[in-house]
Amino acid sequence: MNRSTGTNSLFALIVAAGLSTTAAADPGAERAVTLVSTTCAACHGANGLSISETIPNLAGQRAGYLENQLKALREGSRKSGVMNAIAAQLGEADLKPLAAHYAALPAAPVGAPARSAPFAAMSGSKMSFPADYRERFTHYLTMNFPATRQVRRFYASPQLLADLAAGGSPADGSAVMVEVYAAKLDGERKPIVGPDTFFEAERLVFYTAMAVGTGWGSDIPALIRNGDWHYAVFGTDRTVRAGFSQGECLACHKPLDSTHYLFTHKSLAAARSR
Ligand code: HEC
Ligand code: HEC
Repeated sequence: MNRSTGTNSLFALIVAAGLSTTAAADPGAERAVTLVSTTCAACHGANGLSISETIPNLAGQRAGYLENQLKALREGSRKSGVMNAIAAQLGEADLKPLAAHYAALPAAPVGAPARSAPFAAMSGSKMSFPADYRERFTHYLTMNFPATRQVRRFYASPQLLADLAAGGSPADGSAVMVEVYAAKLDGERKPIVGPDTFFEAERLVFYTAMAVGTGWGSDIPALIRNGDWHYAVFGTDRTVRAGFSQGECLACHKPLDSTHYLFTHKSLAAARSR
């Protein structure tokens, strides 16, 4: 990061947070401000007001509560696919200053559901829809999702299968496309299971996807960066969904660094020999 830009945004935050310069001189508080501005702000906002309904506001919550939640998220006694990996990378000494920082910010005004904008690097996606994936990609997996009455079909690009087969890291052109279908339902609104044990697909609802591009990860915060992977959710019109932000995708896939951030790595490894 450019040194003077970093310093300026640091001061801007200190001013915005109403913290005194003595607080900034405390190395713990200073590190907290940096963590907030480089990482936490991507989801919780620099002002502690989050970017979406699924992410809690932190501004004005009690410091003791926030510290305890961070501790529980760090130890894993409070389960969160998104926050566990982030909190696990924080030091014990970070928790109190982070909690104090957010507790000191003014809470959202009642009746005004203020939202922050996500970091530019995380809104939208650098991945574009691979128009010919049905011809080029390998269908390597199908999964039923009973809770949402969906069935998903997973496809891998030739580049990804070749890189995994060679024992290397997925390079530029590696991609996974997942088709998400609503299942056909019977009279009792239960998914109809086909002879192949998978729910019968009724209607394509959207796609989730991930792809590697050279340098794509460079402006993603280190605590959630997945190498050079970028994520996307495409609508049936094959464009990235309006308002899509990839922070939560990155955070939940982050702990899988040993399998190139791929949950279905086993199936992908099996698919390559086909
Ligand atoms: C990728 C998005 C994302 C980032 C980045 C992120 N968080 Fe979170 N955070 C969440 C989500 C989502 C939850 C809700 C977790 C749950 O309960 O499922 C959460 C919950 C929390 C909570 C509990 C709040 C409550 O009301 O109980 C705290 C505290 C917290 N985050 C602090 C932080 C701090 C500090 C950072 C930066 C080091 C950070 N978060 C970075 C998404 C994020
Ligand atoms: C709470 C954790 C979590 C979050 C958040 C998450 N994923 Fe995943 N993702 C998974 C799991 C688990 C799988 C394995 C298949 C399954 O169970 O759906 C997966 C699989 C995938 C795959 C297939 C390749 C692989 O890793 O196996 C893609 C593509 C994908 N996710 C994209 C996304 C996108 C895009 C987002 C953000 C909109 C996202 N994921 C958010 C947990 C998550």
